[in-house]
Amino acid sequence: MRTYAAICIAIALACLAGTSEGLTQPPEARGQEVFAEQRCVLCHSVGGEGNIKGPLDGVGSRLIREDIVSWIVDPKAMTATTGADRKPPMRAYPSLPAEDLDAVVAYMLSLKEE
Ligand code: HEC
Repeated sequence: MRTYAAICIAIALACLAGTSEGLTQPPEARGQEVFAEQRCVLCHSVGGEGNIKGPLDGVGSRLIREDIVSWIVDPKAMTATTGADRKPPMRAYPSLPAEDLDAVVAYMLSLKEE
């Protein structure tokens, strides 16, 4: 009986691992898509691709999650505190769906300094 249970659990775990790998992509991969879809690259670059005036390489080591969210949702509040005066100033994305916001923030946080 105990072997049965062990086999059942093993099969269940294998299935779970299989589905989570196959169907859902990691949030930072989706975030990279959002970054492209929302045209963040008009003003920012990652790894030299995009607008090199606004490199975001290593931003995940410089900023905490809350600050990255603020930059995206209410950049004016951030420029007020950081004094950033690049032109054009960052536009706000107040109506980005929550999943997309989470994903793009996960992507930003994955950009660690080497
Ligand atoms: C119209 C240009 C523009 C667009 C589009 C834009 N940004 Fe920005 N962003 C800026 C500017 C200007 C700053 C101010 C900091 C600077 O001078 O680099 C900034 C700052 C940031 C910062 C803080 C950077 C740091 O090093 O402290 C993050 C994170 C960021 N943007 C993410 C994004 C994301 C994600 C998107 C797309 C959803 C986006 N931005 C779209 C212009 C833009």
